[in-house]
Amino acid sequence: MLEVENLSVRYRGNEALEKVSFAIATGQLVGVIGPNGAGKSTMLKAMLGLVANSTGWVKFCGKPLKQQRGKVAYIPQRSHIDWDYPTTVWNVVMMGRTLKTGLFRGYSRQSKELVEAALERVGIWNLRDRQIGQLSGGQQQRVFLARALAQEADILFFDEPFTGVDIKTEEIIFEIFSKLKLENKTLLVISHDLGDTLRHYDQLILLNKYLVALGSREEVITPGNIQKAYGHNFGLAIS
Ligand SMILES: Nc1ncnc2c1ncn2[C@@H]1O[C@H](COP(=O)(O)OP(=O)(O)O)[C@@H](O)[C@H]1O
Ligand SMILES: [Mg+2]
Repeated sequence: MLEVENLSVRYRGNEALEKVSFAIATGQLVGVIGPNGAGKSTMLKAMLGLVANSTGWVKFCGKPLKQQRGKVAYIPQRSHIDWDYPTTVWNVVMMGRTLKTGLFRGYSRQSKELVEAALERVGIWNLRDRQIGQLSGGQQQRVFLARALAQEADILFFDEPFTGVDIKTEEIIFEIFSKLKLENKTLLVISHDLGDTLRHYDQLILLNKYLVALGSREEVITPGNIQKAYGHNFGLAIS
């Protein structure tokens, strides 16, 4: 169980997140939706203890998540990553092992095998020696997915993984998400798509600074909730 209680964030006096509380059962794929500036990214970062002015608490299996950071893989928005940094696909994925085992221990054989398996699983083994700056958006997203797999995290946070990726990559990512669920991983995925892709999620969290709604797609995507979150019916695509 992943529990969030009264999570609030203030940036220079402005409330970005207001007393958000929810609980997610282990092994669920949860979509986080809401308008631009709703605090979606802030919420994930605050859950990880990466935001200075946050209050409230987050627990995983009854213990503070902050004390179990190694169990969480966090894949930030693509625009927040320095793609000019000169490093290879292999090195980025190996970072997942470093996050798990700590620096300076050298790369164990097990780590190398896990990196290899992760690259193969997301279909980018052939790109292992490429510089990350040379990859397409979809390939870059898969690199970070592979890094999360190599980390063997129990909880995975993805901030808009589908932005700028092609349909094929989107399908591959959702397939991997469902396999991770079978391994009892808990996934929180920020998406700005209110359309058909929402069918993939077990639960949705609709955010607009405060928690507007939490539940199944049918429960969350209602005209009333969309009005509350977006202020108008923009994007309402119930199919
Ligand atoms: N580091 C920061 N300093 C000050 N304000 C911020 C910072 N990060 C985000 N904000 C503000 O907090 C609000 C929520 O932002 P964000 O979490 O990025 O929303 P979302 O991911 O839903 O688009 C926005 O009004 C944004 O401008
Ligand atoms: Mg964001």
